[in-house]
Amino acid sequence: ATPIWLDCDPGHDDVVAILLSAFHPALKLLGLSTVHGNASLKNTTHNASRVLTALGLTDIPIYPGARKPFCRRAAYAPSIHGATGLDGTTLLPKPGVTPRENENYIVAMRDALLAQPRNSAWVVTTGTLTNVAILFAAFPEVVDHIKGLSIMGGAIGDGFSDAPLGVVKGEGPRVGNWTRWAEFNIYCDPEAAQSIFTNPVLAAKTTLIPLDLTHQVLATPEVLQLLLHGPSSSSSSTGSAAAAGESAIKPKPSGLRQLLYDLLTYFAHTYAEVFGLTAGPPLHDPLAVAATLPAAVLLEDAAPAFDDRGGERWFIDVVTDGLHSNSDQERGQVGRTIARKLPPGEPGVTVPRTLDVPKFWEVLEHCIHRAESS
Ligand code: BDR
Ligand code: CA
Repeated sequence: ATPIWLDCDPGHDDVVAILLSAFHPALKLLGLSTVHGNASLKNTTHNASRVLTALGLTDIPIYPGARKPFCRRAAYAPSIHGATGLDGTTLLPKPGVTPRENENYIVAMRDALLAQPRNSAWVVTTGTLTNVAILFAAFPEVVDHIKGLSIMGGAIGDGFSDAPLGVVKGEGPRVGNWTRWAEFNIYCDPEAAQSIFTNPVLAAKTTLIPLDLTHQVLATPEVLQLLLHGPSSSSSSTGSAAAAGESAIKPKPSGLRQLLYDLLTYFAHTYAEVFGLTAGPPLHDPLAVAATLPAAVLLEDAAPAFDDRGGERWFIDVVTDGLHSNSDQERGQVGRTIARKLPPGEPGVTVPRTLDVPKFWEVLEHCIHRAESS
């Protein structure tokens, strides 16, 4: 199995990333580090512990990481994830994993990654990039050692994909979600992100999963029903019994399915409220985990409109000018990711343009099933 280190800020969609990385049969979750982001470090760490406990994964270590960005104040997202960072359910248990507060998280990450065979382990980030930027700056030998870094973050725009990006009520179309230009994870610590993309060896091992990709994977009401009841009972509800007007008998959902349903229903409400995105919220974070899987999940193949996609590589620049502020003028384009396509054969960041969405839901269902029977 592919060893994975997950750096996260749970966060509703982070929960699904944790589930996938822990229960996909091709992956082995080594540990979690937490970071400021959707909520304070204290909350994201507490949430991570509750989620691992709910999943029965109390042997996975949790390391609390950075409380704030390199050189900015922390920015949180209560409008999307609630005050706790994981609002919307009463089903999360008390934390059953004690976060390793007295150990240095950077040293723990380094040791765990260097203990894996060369070129085998992936680092996956589903939060802002402060922790991993510090890791790779402090211990460059880790860069040479890992197989890849998969980042959920950024927004490319400019017709990169035809997925509908966030539209904020009254503001019209936009590239980013947190601001008109910036995606939240990159906005939170743009300097950390820029330190990664400007490291050529690391950039060549990096896969970026931007909003352009995540907005192709929406947790629609149909998907939520599927997650709640599983595929067979859900299909029977739209089958002949339902057609005949009989109420289909659905088994009581498992605690895990109800938990996922509660969380993603809350996420759907806030996405509809804040972004006016009523079709369903994009399930951003698990895609960064899925990107470490063989191409059966993320398709490298081109759709007709993008038929030069095989092997595309990018130079990514992050706008670091501008303040974390509510004023458009003070903020400017801070956190924007600008992508320049590199000539064929030149090393750079991989940015998939599309994925096999039904396959992704299948993989997730498989992982839920494994979690339920573990
Ligand atoms: C990212 O921001 C967070 O709110 C989500 O968990 C995801 O990692 C999407 O922009
Ligand atoms: Ca996240």
